[in-house]
Order: sequence, then C-alpha cells, then structure tokens
Amino acid sequence: MADDQHAAAAWREADLRHVLHNGTNLLDHLEHGPLMFVRGQGVRLWDADGREYLDATSGLANCNLGYGEPELIQAAADQLAQLSFAPSTGGMANPPYVLLAQRIAGLLPADLSRVFMTTTGSDANEAAFKLARWVNHLEGRPEKHKIISLLQSFHGNTLATTAATGMSVQWSVGAPLPPGFLHVEPPFCYRCPWHVGRRNDRCCLLGVEALEALIQREGPDTVAAIVAEPVLQAAGAVVPPPEYFPAVRRLCDRYGILLIYDEVVTGFGRTGKLFGLEHFDAVPDMVTMAKGLAAGHFPVGALAFRESLYDRLLAAARSGAGHVFYHTHTFFGNPVAGAVGLKAIELLERRGLVQHVASVGERLLAGLETLRDTGIVGDVRGIGLLAAVELVQDPATRAPFDHDLGVARQVYREAADRGVLVRASAFGDVIMLTPPLIMTAAEADQVVITLREALTTVRERL
Ligand SMILES: Cc1ncc(COP(=O)(O)O)c(C=O)c1O
Repeated sequence: MADDQHAAAAWREADLRHVLHNGTNLLDHLEHGPLMFVRGQGVRLWDADGREYLDATSGLANCNLGYGEPELIQAAADQLAQLSFAPSTGGMANPPYVLLAQRIAGLLPADLSRVFMTTTGSDANEAAFKLARWVNHLEGRPEKHKIISLLQSFHGNTLATTAATGMSVQWSVGAPLPPGFLHVEPPFCYRCPWHVGRRNDRCCLLGVEALEALIQREGPDTVAAIVAEPVLQAAGAVVPPPEYFPAVRRLCDRYGILLIYDEVVTGFGRTGKLFGLEHFDAVPDMVTMAKGLAAGHFPVGALAFRESLYDRLLAAARSGAGHVFYHTHTFFGNPVAGAVGLKAIELLERRGLVQHVASVGERLLAGLETLRDTGIVGDVRGIGLLAAVELVQDPATRAPFDHDLGVARQVYREAADRGVLVRASAFGDVIMLTPPLIMTAAEADQVVITLREALTTVRERL
C-alpha cells in the first residue's frame, strides 16, 4: 500500500513537472493535478489511488467496446508477431490493411467503395480536404479549393482541421491558420442562431439558406467541399433536423461541391446505426472515421469516398496531370491497425451492439430527461449513446450560467467523486455522455442516478 502511494505521488510529480497536457486548463490542472488511470476493464477504470469509475465517456468516445477487450488484444498480439509493420506508401500493402479497406467499403452505401487508411480522425479529415482540392487542381480548377464547415463543429487539431473546426477559441493556437476555410451557422435548434425556437421547420432551412448565401458570396467556383458531423458532438450531441442534410446535398449537387461527413465520433454504432449517415436521407461523397474503428485499442482512421472520385483521379493520371496523392504518414495502413480494426468490426456485428446501442441509448436519454426537475437542466439531446445535458441558470429563458462559475466542470467533479466519469464541455455548460457501446441498462441507470446527485449538490451550492 505504501509502495502504491509512493508510485502515485511520483507519477503526479512527473506529470506536474514535465507534462504539457493538451486541451487542459493549465491553472485548473495546477490546482487539481492529474486524474491518473492505471487500469481499465470493460466499462470500468481505476485510478492510481485505487478508486473505481464507471466510464460514461469511453475515453474520448473511442473505447467503444470497453477497456482490455481480450479479442482485440489477441488480434493485436497475433499481428505484431506475424508482421509488426509494413509501409502503405509506394504501392506496398499488407493483408490486414487491404482487408480492412474492403470491410469498411462493404459497410457503406455502395458507391463509397474507395478507402484511404489513416491513423487518426484529424488525418482522415486532412486527407478528405486534400483530396477535394487535389481533384479540382488536377482538372484545372485550382481556385475551387475552399472548405465550408459548421460553427461549433470539431474536425481535429492539425492546422487545417483546426481551421475547419468551428470553435473560435481554438483558432488562435497556431494562428495564422491556412486560408480557404469558411464557416456557417449550424442547425442547432436549442440555441437557434436565428432565434426561431425549437424544432421549427424554418430553423434548419434558414441554415441551408445561410449556406447557399455563403456559397454565392464566395462564388460556387471557389468552393470544393462542405464538411459536417452528422451529429455535432462537441456542440453537445446536436442532432440536425431530418430536412437539413438532404437540403445540403441538393446544394452540393447544384454547385458541384463535395459533401464530406465527419463520422469520427458517429461511426461504428455510436448513434444506434452503424453510421450516422443512416439517419439522414442524403449520401455524402466522402466519409471520415476513426475513434470506434479499432475501439480505442489501436490508433486507426479512414477516409472512404466515391468510386467516381477515384475515376477522376485515374483519368487525371492517364492524362498526365498528376499521378501521386502525396499524403503519407508512416503509420497509415499498418497491419496491426488493420487487424484490430477488422476484429472490432467483427465484434460489433457478432455481439449485435448496434441494436443494443439503439435500445440502451433510448433508456439513457429517457433517464436524462427526468433530470429536468433538478431545475438547472435546459436541454437533453442526443441519439443512441451520444447524449448531452445542457445546464442553464433558467430553463424557461435558456439563460446560461456565468461562464466563470464552471458549472458543468463542478458537475463533472461531483460525478467523478461518486465514481462516474462524464465529460464537461470546454465550450459551455454541457455534460457530454458517450458511454461504451457495451454499457448495460443497469449501468445507464447508474449514470443517471449519479448525475442527479451531482446536479443537486451543485445546484444547492450555487
Ligand atoms: C468529429 C471529430 N472529428 C475529428 C476528430 C479528430 O480525431 P483525432 O482526435 O483522432 O485526430 C475528432 C476528435 O475528437 C472529432 O470528434
């Protein structure tokens, strides 16, 4: 026990002395120190002090099959023993790499049959942006390069994906950002940018009108692609109304713009369908994915795109315009990522987890709805096991809390003290829930009960 305490103190010391944490308030971190995890099994984590947590965040919405899944560990170990690495550049391949590409293509609408493997979601989005620009460049339209995305969306933290991310607080880190990235208001009914109100038919159509106005202003011949999350996770599980994406699709078709769905969070069962796109009657030209693809047991991402786009690349290559899509990262297409990804998809299907998510997700959302009587819940939203609770000072007027109170952060701490991990959004008082897809109904109930206690404690303290 004394040894454990000594080790925990040494890790904390190493953290505070040597680490710069990403996405972390530096002063908050100095005051509270790290939450140091040492073990994970199923939906549970243990910290260095031996405390147990039910993880309702799946790490970062990626450990979809829980922690320490034996079949994923075995798949990684077997592949490491067989062939630990092989490049995917210069025409080199390996079986897990190409079989995972084939498997992903088989899960998507028929035309999305070409796959580019990456390591992360940011890489996949970078690849999508580059590909959208590259085809236009090859076809003699280099000016058609702009990428439009939604405010409050998140697409990654490389320079280009930060530029595409619709959160202005992130833009100054690394500024100046690359040019050619534009933003438009999202279809966010609870915080309707047009003040029309919740679930009003006009609301989302105004979003499409704003998008079209932006395209017109910039000139359709300058816009290469529109990128959007099917459900905006970082904004707090914002589910666009059903009319939104079909209308965006029509705009893309009218102006020759590619539509990219960022399914980094929504892919692989998170929303109660295999992909978020299945909720909307609009097929994109490209889909990016990562997180749940290898269920957090290995880093892997992918970009899937239409065969017709590949045909354009081939035609350009044959015409001599350009032969190589230069976008190589050392770990793209590596065999271990392929093996773990293949196994994760197999487990998702074999265990019927997508249907499970749909039913447990409904139960979780219904439970979260009951939290409105705590008096500080303004909105409960989400789909499947992607849910959010927005905390407000006055539910009647939707008036937010003073940002400096850090109300969501307080709720996060109260819940963690009671053994349940939720996430407090850095961008508003929103509690975000992305539990492992294997979470049971009883565990979902436990999350709701704990959140009720945390919310009540925080409300009484305010
Ligand atoms: C919607 C979305 N897109 C892209 C990314 C970036 O993925 P990664 O962190 O794997 O680079 C994230 C990460 O949270 C995300 O939520």
